[in-house]
Amino acid sequence: MDKVQHLLRLADWSEERIVDTIETAIRLKEELKTGCSTTPLQGKSIGMFFEKPSLRTITTFQVGIAQLGAFPVILSPDSIGLGKRESIKDVARCLSRWVNGLVVRCFEQKLLEELAEYGNIPVVNALTDDYHPCQAFAFAQTIRENIGDFQGKTVAFIGDGNNVANSFLALCAKLGMNFTLACPAGYEQPKAVVEEALPELTKRGCQYRVFHDPKEAVRDADILYSDVWVSMGQEGEKASKQSHFLPFQINDELLSLAPSHCKVSHCLPAHRGEEITDSVMDNLSVNLSYEEAENRLHAHKAVLCQVLGV
Ligand code: CP
Ligand code: NVA
Repeated sequence: MDKVQHLLRLADWSEERIVDTIETAIRLKEELKTGCSTTPLQGKSIGMFFEKPSLRTITTFQVGIAQLGAFPVILSPDSIGLGKRESIKDVARCLSRWVNGLVVRCFEQKLLEELAEYGNIPVVNALTDDYHPCQAFAFAQTIRENIGDFQGKTVAFIGDGNNVANSFLALCAKLGMNFTLACPAGYEQPKAVVEEALPELTKRGCQYRVFHDPKEAVRDADILYSDVWVSMGQEGEKASKQSHFLPFQINDELLSLAPSHCKVSHCLPAHRGEEITDSVMDNLSVNLSYEEAENRLHAHKAVLCQVLGV
């Protein structure tokens, strides 16, 4: 039997697979818009297990699974009681007998990895505390469609060195883009994530830079990226974090320091008035967030086709 393909972390995938997935997403988008879609997952079922809240990811996976001809099975964490009512091992083994793949949003990356280890169906990371690879695919598609070739472009991530930043760094490393993080001291990305990306960046002639002054970070950026300062599960850190992050807001002043062609995006949900202002969010000639949100649909369909080998 062929090895089961998962999307646990973007860094696990080769450049070729990533590029192929982005191209598939662009093709699926075109097919949907021109009424030429096919249903390559006809007759299959995909389980969806979400421990954290979601608007975009849960909707686009559900719609995308249906568009591909498969049936989405929404699994309730409260009902399953993973690790409490039943062991992770047994849940993974049972699910593998009924559904053809599993889309998981959970706190611990380890849970995702255990589901992948004990089941024999593809597991897709729909966000963990550590990574958000599906967001990276939609971001890449949005860059390709709005900015052009990846090679040599510069992504400036303004904010927390978080799960989204980690997957974007891996994306940049694989596709030959420079990655800049602007964050308060102490909120950098984990050392292991950076060390894994550095050889790939160097191989492609790209740079990883960290600034504690956002003004320095935007000067050569092709796109500025924003995410919430306090991620899901970190709510207890809100008060202590917010004061540190106040200077790391994408606003008109910061944007004016970037090159004139520079775009902005945000994975959403946005906390308007915190990490990004209304004026930038509502400037649709610059803000690509809604296109990126649309591309979640096409990217997720492409990821499912990739892991299921269709
Ligand atoms: N960007 C993103 O993953 O959105 P949701 O949390 O709403 O799914
Ligand atoms: N970093 C954010 C991303 C939300 C899509 C979080 O984990 O809450």
